[in-house]
Amino acid sequence: MVNIIGAGLAGLSAAIALAERGIESNLISQQPSERAQSVLAEGGINAALDTMGEGDAWQEHYADTMRGGCDLADPNAVAGLTSHAPEIVRRLASLGVPFQREGGRIVQRNFGGQKKKRTAYAQSSTGKALMTALIDEARKYEAAGFIHRYAHHELIGLEIENGTCYGAKLWDTYADAVLRCGAPVVLACGGLNGLFPGLTTGAVYNTGGAAALAFAKGAALANPEMIQYHPTTVRISGKRMLVSEAARGEGGRLYVIRSGKPWYFMEELYPELGNLMPRDVVSRAMTQVCAREDCEAQVYLDMTCLSAETWANKLPDLRAELLRYLALDPKTQPIPVSPGIHFFMGGLSVDERHGTSVSGLYAAGECACQYHGANRLGGNSMLAAIYGGSVVAENAAAGQGGELETLGAITAEEKAELAVSPAFANRLRDILLGGLGIVRDASGIERALQAMDKLPSKTTAERNRASVGRAMLLGALARKESRGAHWRSDFPQRDEAFRKTTVATYTNGAVELAFQAIPERRAEL
Ligand code: FUM
Repeated sequence: MVNIIGAGLAGLSAAIALAERGIESNLISQQPSERAQSVLAEGGINAALDTMGEGDAWQEHYADTMRGGCDLADPNAVAGLTSHAPEIVRRLASLGVPFQREGGRIVQRNFGGQKKKRTAYAQSSTGKALMTALIDEARKYEAAGFIHRYAHHELIGLEIENGTCYGAKLWDTYADAVLRCGAPVVLACGGLNGLFPGLTTGAVYNTGGAAALAFAKGAALANPEMIQYHPTTVRISGKRMLVSEAARGEGGRLYVIRSGKPWYFMEELYPELGNLMPRDVVSRAMTQVCAREDCEAQVYLDMTCLSAETWANKLPDLRAELLRYLALDPKTQPIPVSPGIHFFMGGLSVDERHGTSVSGLYAAGECACQYHGANRLGGNSMLAAIYGGSVVAENAAAGQGGELETLGAITAEEKAELAVSPAFANRLRDILLGGLGIVRDASGIERALQAMDKLPSKTTAERNRASVGRAMLLGALARKESRGAHWRSDFPQRDEAFRKTTVATYTNGAVELAFQAIPERRAEL
């Protein structure tokens, strides 16, 4: 039995791949799969299928991913990801994902930081289409007794002793009972959105609490300072709304009003890829033009040039969302956009097998740091979640035990330790934002660390979150260079001495930091 915490793309992929090997898994999640954040993913999934006659090959996908991540990812892991991508997308198609097609072939669109049309998509609701297919596939294995689902079960404890994980404690939030499972445990719990309430495009219940718990218990974090700001988001009530990169992939253009006229700055400043430069570059350029004296402080996304066919067949859901939430019609009106927190490249440190620094504890999906280096390419996150889940299934040896064991009712004290007050969460967010913006410097980061020292944490969950926040800030302070999403105005150059992974550990109540060499690419890959 393998115990998987999280039932989005990474968790489902692990459970299905385990079932295919005849291994049972408990698929444990706070929310049912249908409400996982993966459902929100929009633009598409990358694979060098070469359906567009451009002579694409996985080696080019590899090179774009490494370059986009500013050479900070493990090249062997990225070779595995990109070389397996075509078979993953073909398999998804065989499971019924309604990828956009023309004359039978899967159509691929442009996405940021990639030189070829490589992103397969289902309008701009690709995550929903992928999840529907995998949920259905998982049901087959549920019926056969290989997958056991436990929705509405929250991870509340990890049994870790001397660097080995022996199991996990769970809270059945409907029955108010505490349960236990054994090892191995796979964390597939998504990103750290809970550190930035109201400011991320992600699902609000992906709090990052599981990764914070693992960190507090000894699992290392890698590159925690690497936070992706997606260039085109819009502030709406309670979160940031994503305007998919697909809009620019289909021809959307960014402009700012300069001296009274629209200035399509990306096209002028970056003629090679223009509006489709990697996200770190676009978000930074937007910040810089808005700060210029001759420019207004608002960037617009102009999609009025898109064809009627594109709106009808490729982006109807994006237009519907913009009409519904902003009362703006992108067919005829520019959309005011600004960068918003979208993804965490950093997370639990895993090796190529997706094992964390704790034996018996694995991680996959956004909670793990593996494929994206200093900046993730759009279209690589769903791929990495599905591939990472399958790698876990190859490596997590089945443990003993079966069904979850009920330990008793949850106590009021236990519940109290799990709480994070809105006042604490908002204060932590504001502190972190002060140090971890699109452009950072030592004085801002140090101010944030001092503010953290004065932030009282009253519960275990608050303390765990604060430790992760501190790891992010210390990582940002120690990385005295600019690379990808980490841009230091006081160290504006990339420095190859920092082509290393930041590794944070929590030891004796303090966050410690080290830099680890990135593995060389193996010759056979
Ligand atoms: O813009 C988007 O559709 C986002 C895609 C991604 O983050 O992979």
